[in-house]
Amino acid sequence: MATTTETKPAPSSGASGAAAAGDHLEIKDSRTGKTYNIPITDETIRTSDLKQIKVKDDDFGLMGYDPAFMNTASCRSKITFIDGDKGILRYRGYPIEQLAEKATFLEVAWLLRHGELPTQEEYNLWVRDVTYHTYVHENIKQFMEGFRYDAHPMSMLTAGVAALSTFYPTAKNVYDEREREIAFVRLLAKMPTIAAFVYRHVKGLPYVNPDNSLPYTENYLSMIARMSEPKYEAHPVYARAIDVLFILHADHEQNCSTNAVRAVGSSHVDPYSAVAGGIAALYGPLHGGANEAVLRMLEEIGHPSKIPAFIEAVKSGKGEQRLMGFGHRVYKSYDPRARIVKKLCDDVLKIAGMTKDMEIAVELERIALSDEYFIKRKLYPNVDFYTGLIYRAMHFPTDYFTVLFAIARTAGWLAQWEEMLLDKEQKIARPRQIYTGNGERPYKSTLNYTHTIKK
Ligand code: ACO
Repeated sequence: MATTTETKPAPSSGASGAAAAGDHLEIKDSRTGKTYNIPITDETIRTSDLKQIKVKDDDFGLMGYDPAFMNTASCRSKITFIDGDKGILRYRGYPIEQLAEKATFLEVAWLLRHGELPTQEEYNLWVRDVTYHTYVHENIKQFMEGFRYDAHPMSMLTAGVAALSTFYPTAKNVYDEREREIAFVRLLAKMPTIAAFVYRHVKGLPYVNPDNSLPYTENYLSMIARMSEPKYEAHPVYARAIDVLFILHADHEQNCSTNAVRAVGSSHVDPYSAVAGGIAALYGPLHGGANEAVLRMLEEIGHPSKIPAFIEAVKSGKGEQRLMGFGHRVYKSYDPRARIVKKLCDDVLKIAGMTKDMEIAVELERIALSDEYFIKRKLYPNVDFYTGLIYRAMHFPTDYFTVLFAIARTAGWLAQWEEMLLDKEQKIARPRQIYTGNGERPYKSTLNYTHTIKK
């Protein structure tokens, strides 16, 4: 608790152990003339320390107002570090560039959860467990068949993952370590299977069961592409590209969907339901849906000669039209993932062939990066600017792109969900509001409640 110099002249120890003599923020309330010392820890004040600042004893106390969490830390986390100004991204201290070059996605998923790289024995067991659990209950197939032919892949994925919770009712015992362990394994294992069923549903093709003789990403690609051949072998460049993209998308600290998973999970609901909430958040065009939006934008532009007019429309559009794949809440320099993705894109296009979309994207990036509007606002390509091009080169349908993102982010969502559960400071997420509606007024209805149906 912070101290006020009037009510308690000697500084208290404060919630974090900081004393008024230590780092603190001195606040003078002009309404009362009182001065308060709010401890500063990790360059942060606790907004609950503001609650003691009141005019009258029965006031609620001062709140912080921060729509969209622009400057509010909602947790302490050891998982992912980002320095948006310097373009740094690290998982558990390891630079993303090194992980993308050398690690596998499953190794990264282990790292995100456990905080350390797995030993060989741990890794082998982990891969075995995840591989063993790739099959889903046959009823999931029937469930997926219930969707219309043109259902959006992300809606199907959200529903499919939420449906998984009905098959594992004991997963709601979120403080049972064994339950959490098996939920990690099952979700990571079954996400590619459900994602592949979604793909096959869109294409009107029969579902392909996992081939557990294959590694994680190859197995997923087999469920996507296998037809009558007894065994499907993905092109190694494509398989590695997908695995690297899974690594790059595995976690990104408190982004919109991770925040959703933490918030939903804070009610102690089962992890399948919490992850389904994350998938729904990821679906939006300002978040994971951006890679889909980038491709639609490139289609709309249609030719490099039309880029200047498009850029002008973005600049004069008062925010209605954005350059999709550009800008980030955290990165105010080049997104480090975007560099890696651009290189991957080159590798994939060497095999798939250069596309018109890629020509437009390269030229669009060049023009935007030299334009005062984007420079001034520190708008650089984000991870999604080039991912869509890779997915398109590999013939994934445009509205399916975000599903690939969701497979990867499952690793981060789960690690963050468990960290939230085990954090003694966390409670059910429940923000405050500033009420701006009507004052009390008497109820007076003018409705006629007779039930009549107009023929
Ligand atoms: N194109 C044009 N202008 C932009 C763009 C863009 N892509 N992004 C931001 N701006 C402008 C805004 O209009 C605003 O300008 P103003 O100061 O003149 O009003 C300024 O830059 C700041 O923008 P904000 O919206 O305040 O930035 P915020 O941090 O809220 O938004 C976001 C970040 C949502 C990512 C935004 O940059 C955006 O919409 N980008 C396009 C969508 C996209 O690529 N999303 C993927 C993000 S990465 C991910 O989720 C994996």
